[in-house]
Amino acid sequence: MALRLGDLAPDFQADTTAGPISFHEWKRGSWTVLFSHPRDFTPVCTTELARAASLKPEFDRRNTRLLGLSVDSVESHEQWLEDIAELTGQRVNFPIVADADRSVALRYDMIHPNVSDTFTVRSVFIIGPDHRIKATATYPASTGRSFDEILRVLDALQLAADYAVATPVDWRSGDEVVIAPTVSEEDARRKFPKGYEARKPWFRVTPPPDR
Ligand code: BEZ
Repeated sequence: MALRLGDLAPDFQADTTAGPISFHEWKRGSWTVLFSHPRDFTPVCTTELARAASLKPEFDRRNTRLLGLSVDSVESHEQWLEDIAELTGQRVNFPIVADADRSVALRYDMIHPNVSDTFTVRSVFIIGPDHRIKATATYPASTGRSFDEILRVLDALQLAADYAVATPVDWRSGDEVVIAPTVSEEDARRKFPKGYEARKPWFRVTPPPDR
């Protein structure tokens, strides 16, 4: 069965371009973005890996580790990473899982047989420090992902984890947020000392609580 929000992200042992890892041990205490690539030596994946690598300081700032995955060997990944550096000027500075036997891809439901029996789709799993799945996204091989969007979602998840808030449409870090409808008036006054505006009794907004 497909993994759902709130599920425990399956643990696994795998070879990566940074050596063998035991997933839960490797990510201990951190958020993680685990994302799959259809295969090595592909152009869209190349642009994604270079962009993710260039944003690594932003992920670090959010206590978040990046972990790529593709169903090829470490040797193949290493040759591909050389090509990526040559093509984009960017070295990939996080590990890529070598999932040649597809065991991780199958556990994370990254292979969608109506698309391909062999290669993964572009899956994204955002996993919390508690190893629980907080957000997922799935794109076809033909569509490159936006790592700015992944950072935006991470900001929203981390804010919601720290405060009883939700983030409205097109929210960006620093924008006003919505107070969860489950929070009572009394709790809202206590939790949001900057105050809040009740546009309706059920629609309350407050300045960013983390600023
Ligand atoms: C790519 O990453 O460029 C790609 C991979 C598989 C199919 C089509 C494009």
